[in-house]
Amino acid sequence: MIKDLILKNRSYRRFYQEVDIKPETLKELVDLARLSPSVANKQPLKYILSCDPQENALIFPHLAWAGYLENWPGPEEGERPSAYIIILGDTKISQSFSIDLGIATQSILLGAVEKGLGGCNIASVKKEALRKTLEIPNRYEILHVIALGKTKETVVIETAGADGDIKYWRDSQGVHHVPKRPLDEIIIG
Ligand SMILES: Cc1cc2nc3c(=O)[nH]c(=O)nc-3n(C[C@H](O)[C@H](O)[C@H](O)COP(=O)(O)O)c2cc1C
Repeated sequence: MIKDLILKNRSYRRFYQEVDIKPETLKELVDLARLSPSVANKQPLKYILSCDPQENALIFPHLAWAGYLENWPGPEEGERPSAYIIILGDTKISQSFSIDLGIATQSILLGAVEKGLGGCNIASVKKEALRKTLEIPNRYEILHVIALGKTKETVVIETAGADGDIKYWRDSQGVHHVPKRPLDEIIIG
């Protein structure tokens, strides 16, 4: 079960944009993050949910997609995410968020896959511009965005070769290939 979900939980960057995601679905995903571990149980993460096309259109320009696909500027109109979860760190609760953030994002994305959706972690965010656009108070550090939707692309895992090249690539059919280092290379003792 968990391996199936982890295998399916690839980074998807093209979506059926017209397929709506309900606010309730986003709340259920954030609830998975809420129930996940937190350093010292401080629970400093806060969330902004967007599944409204107009709000989505405000968020999209602040995100950068697939840095290794040099000639691809990101999903075109019609293939963009149907929803976003913006993850914030509440600086009144903590000054460090990193491990909580990783756990929360994985909980959310695995939950999305279980619901038949898919998504992508986006750390390349124009944070101050996004803060201005959405009027996010300074108290909240903008940490990360998760893009979500009904996925429109096939992503396959490859085994990284001896040359160690881990750059993902897209073939002529539009299939996205993701090299993963082999197990016997990453277990060193
Ligand atoms: C913390 C983090 C930040 C990421 N930021 C971006 C990003 O800004 N833009 C993007 O297109 N993909 C981003 N990704 C997705 C990675 O490129 C992706 O996880 C990697 O290529 C492996 O593919 P996979 O998720 O299908 O295993 C990010 C992933 C992680 C874990």
